[in-house]
Amino acid sequence: MAGTTKDVIAQYDRYVMKTYVRTPLVLTKGKGSRVWDLEGREYLDLFPGWGVSGLGHCHPWIMKALRGQSGRLIHLPNNYYHPAQAKLAKKLASLAFDGKVFFANSGAEMVEAAIKLVRCWGHAQTPAKHEIIVMERSFHGRTMGALSATGQSKYQEGFGPLLPGFVCVPFGNLAAVQRAITPNTCAILLEPIQGEGGVQVATPEFLGGIRELATRHQLLVIYDEIQTGMGRTGTWFAFQQTGVEPDVMLLAKTLGGGVPIGAMLAKRAIADVLAPGTHGSTFGGNPLVAVSALAACEVIERQKLLERAAAFGTVARERLTALQARCPIIAEVRGAGLMIGIELRVDGRPIVEACRAQGVLINCTQERVLRLLPALTITRAQLDRGLSVLERVLEASATHA
Ligand SMILES: Cc1ncc(COP(=O)(O)O)c(C=O)c1O
Repeated sequence: MAGTTKDVIAQYDRYVMKTYVRTPLVLTKGKGSRVWDLEGREYLDLFPGWGVSGLGHCHPWIMKALRGQSGRLIHLPNNYYHPAQAKLAKKLASLAFDGKVFFANSGAEMVEAAIKLVRCWGHAQTPAKHEIIVMERSFHGRTMGALSATGQSKYQEGFGPLLPGFVCVPFGNLAAVQRAITPNTCAILLEPIQGEGGVQVATPEFLGGIRELATRHQLLVIYDEIQTGMGRTGTWFAFQQTGVEPDVMLLAKTLGGGVPIGAMLAKRAIADVLAPGTHGSTFGGNPLVAVSALAACEVIERQKLLERAAAFGTVARERLTALQARCPIIAEVRGAGLMIGIELRVDGRPIVEACRAQGVLINCTQERVLRLLPALTITRAQLDRGLSVLERVLEASATHA
């Protein structure tokens, strides 16, 4: 093992590209909602794996599934069949809507797959169409297609020319979506709750209006549920709280229980436009990750994590809303289930650091929005403890503001 925290960071500085703003913590062990650093200090992780470790770190059922499968077959290319990939695709279709799945390894890859799918579908329409309407403040990933679909110029600067064919409109503004539709439009892509954009929740009216426009103009609706999916918001998928189904849904993050897997589920007639040879991924949906994702589904079902996310989310939001009354730096508390955003009137980054100094890990996005994505397995005592630390830090900051 590499030496001290200082040594590890020095090696990163010398050998790892500086594409990330990193917290000066070397974390070497995790269990549930707790992680430990190299010096043995324990932290309560309220933002585990940026949403990937949504079942907590090293869930025992995931570990069992991974151990078992790694002794049988780790990888199998997609020119063969494996029972676990078939079972997982069927499971996702039964949980969301009837359709077919394409598997890859990350969120951005699923967005790329969706761009190809809807363009392929659009080219088959008469007249052919290819434009995709996307939302301001959205986040869809760092690859060139996903970046072009992302409605935040700060991520795009310096990487042009971007992929053409995206039209960006304000999130929540149905009239703007309507105005953006042309004979070239083939799809509308959005997150039902924008995560990186500051935990902005789409109203059922906005989603319903988009569905209506899509039906009227024969467009496809793609939901990026990469951050909101797999129980995060208290239902398997956020769209299930609105009653408005997409044609295509994208998943990654929590899907694999910690391992890299992404899935694109599309309604049957649409899915079939991608013929053999038109898209692929060497690693996509291999036996190891498929078995892990199946175990993740089982954990969510058998441990009743949807109910837990809904109930604990309500507890957390009520407590934070009550805090807002006595803590004027809080502008708004938002979210659904265990996806929680606290918009501040001040810079949130010192709050994140103060929480870390007190052993609690949280995130800040858009400079002023504190974001919590606690594991769905978090205990009530852990949640209460984390919220108490956050409350103390926010109150102390309010008195100094
Ligand atoms: C909504 C959403 N879409 C796409 C992505 C990109 O996922 P990945 O980093 O796995 O490529 C993210 C990542 O945060 C996300 O939150």
